[in-house]
Amino acid sequence: MTGWASRRAQAMPRSVFATMDAAKARARAKGLELIDLSIGSSDLAPPAVALEALRRATYDPETYGYCLFSGTAPLRRAVAAWFGARYGVSLDADEQVLPLIGSQEGFANLLLATTDPGDLILLPDPGYPSYYGAVALAGLEMHAVPLEAENGFLPELGAIPERVARRAKVLVLSYPNNPTAAVATPELMREAVAFCREHRILLVHDFPYVDTVYGDYRAPSVLAQPGGLETAVELYSCSKSFHMGGFRIGWAAGNAAAIAALARVKGAVDFNQYRGIQAMAVAALEAGAEVTREAARVFEARRDALVGALRRAGWEVPTPQASMYVWAPLPKGTDSFAFAVAAAEQTGVCVAPGRAFGERGEGYVRFALVRDAAVLARAAARLATFLEERG
Ligand SMILES: Cc1ncc(COP(=O)(O)O)c(C=O)c1O
Repeated sequence: MTGWASRRAQAMPRSVFATMDAAKARARAKGLELIDLSIGSSDLAPPAVALEALRRATYDPETYGYCLFSGTAPLRRAVAAWFGARYGVSLDADEQVLPLIGSQEGFANLLLATTDPGDLILLPDPGYPSYYGAVALAGLEMHAVPLEAENGFLPELGAIPERVARRAKVLVLSYPNNPTAAVATPELMREAVAFCREHRILLVHDFPYVDTVYGDYRAPSVLAQPGGLETAVELYSCSKSFHMGGFRIGWAAGNAAAIAALARVKGAVDFNQYRGIQAMAVAALEAGAEVTREAARVFEARRDALVGALRRAGWEVPTPQASMYVWAPLPKGTDSFAFAVAAAEQTGVCVAPGRAFGERGEGYVRFALVRDAAVLARAAARLATFLEERG
């Protein structure tokens, strides 16, 4: 029985997180302390200046009505100024920047705006789960680009068969990466831009972890590479940079024709985010790099706590340079989904099963660094004992 569900709705992949939810409920019912590290939702607060901007906006009647494109100008200008200062490239605030209601919304609508049903998309495997839904919604054919441990979870663009590259309309990349926590070099970004220009492919770089970087590592933008603005769109999110996941705001930047197409599609779907929330993003962008650096140091200390505790317990995991995740290999032959469900039920510690991110995510689980260091260390110890007991 499909009831009213369209073929499109029926094609949407089912989320494994519903099953995880049931496992969490069973752990709670047993009275276990639940440590939920399965979802990458930042537990830090938005910058104080952003909260203050929202407070002021809610008392300003000018913000109460629909927000047309002209109403988004302050945010578009703030994004262009921020990008110029960060990457030394000037963006046209009218033609190369568009506010989004989160990068997830932007990704789905960008595919609707730039592809036709049956077109081919090159999608990383593993990848952020909502990519799969957006691809189904747009009716695209998918070619998986494997991200393998032996290549540092970077794509081998040269291994994509020529006939596939010739047919492809879109290539998706996302570094710092969710779920693998891998980082890219400017050389990879240059190579991706060159590959996409050669094959007339739109490069969509999902870039929500631009600010979640540790030590001296700085995340490269595809738009700052030669020819980037001719072939790429980058998606940004205030959810990760400014801990505003619930507020739903981000932006797309890049190729003017793709941005114009996205604006046309969004014009039929939404009236832009509330001006007060846009004002939050402006205030956060203008607050200076120290705001994001400080938060990144919090995640870095948590990374050290978790990685240290896992290793002390005998679980060898790599030390990520960015993102808010640790991508941990399971013992050979362990099913990631069965492991995550059993771990949640028996220890109260919830991690995301690698398979939720695609076939090549199997054999891993993802920890999100969304609790403080002491809790992460406790979670690591409990999971390590659980692993040991399972043999
Ligand atoms: C790679 C990636 N893209 C997009 C999103 C969603 O971002 P937003 O909250 O801006 O929709 C996430 C959230 O975890 C993510 O990891």
